[in-house]
Amino acid sequence: MKLKLKIWRQKNAKSKGAFVSYDLDGVSPDMSFLEMLDLLNSRLIDDGKEPVAFDHDCREGICGSCGMYINGYPHGPVPGLTTCHLSMRYFKEGETIVIEPWRARPFPVIKDLIVDRSALDRIQVAGGFISVTAGAASEANSILVTKKNSDEAFDSAICIGCGACVAACKNASPMLFVSAKISQYALLPQGKPEAKERVRAMIAEMDRNGFGNCSNTGACEAQCPKQIKLLNIARLNREYFKAF
Ligand code: FES
Repeated sequence: MKLKLKIWRQKNAKSKGAFVSYDLDGVSPDMSFLEMLDLLNSRLIDDGKEPVAFDHDCREGICGSCGMYINGYPHGPVPGLTTCHLSMRYFKEGETIVIEPWRARPFPVIKDLIVDRSALDRIQVAGGFISVTAGAASEANSILVTKKNSDEAFDSAICIGCGACVAACKNASPMLFVSAKISQYALLPQGKPEAKERVRAMIAEMDRNGFGNCSNTGACEAQCPKQIKLLNIARLNREYFKAF
């Protein structure tokens, strides 16, 4: 395949960025989106040019580091996929693909497509620990959890903290992320002892880092590569009201 790429290039947080166009041929439909960027970079290096900086680690949809806008969509136009899982077979011969970093004030650009997402880590850290007794594994059936709650807790726990919810939201709200982290504990008995402090601290940290609040447009749910449900935000709000 032959593609035209329009990629945001920016030296660092202080410099002004701009789109730069690249023509790339020899792209296989079997490549992942990141492999396509690897191909571009190897050509740029061969030509003595600066490669495009982009974030990635696991390339298995687990670590959440490969976030970028692709044709205006966080992680690209295919629902339920991270950028690293996005295959080039979803694009057409000759297509122009526009690639940008997350646009949100709490995520300053470090370089090109890489943004600083440590604000999400600070929210997670503010949530603290749960007080479970260490030692030998206890009998699994001694603490009863309903199947519904255990399934919902698991569905929340699969949030990979990629920041797509923030990038998709017109308010740059991370409430889908925060609500997933709150829900995974709120649904289980082990999360109850610290529930009030946890939700208060995470929301306070969210505000401190300059994120916005949810106004129920649902863009976060539509763009979340792990398809975390908006219902979690309702649970987050209930947990927050109970904490005062
Ligand atoms: S590189 Fe880890 S989720 Fe994409």
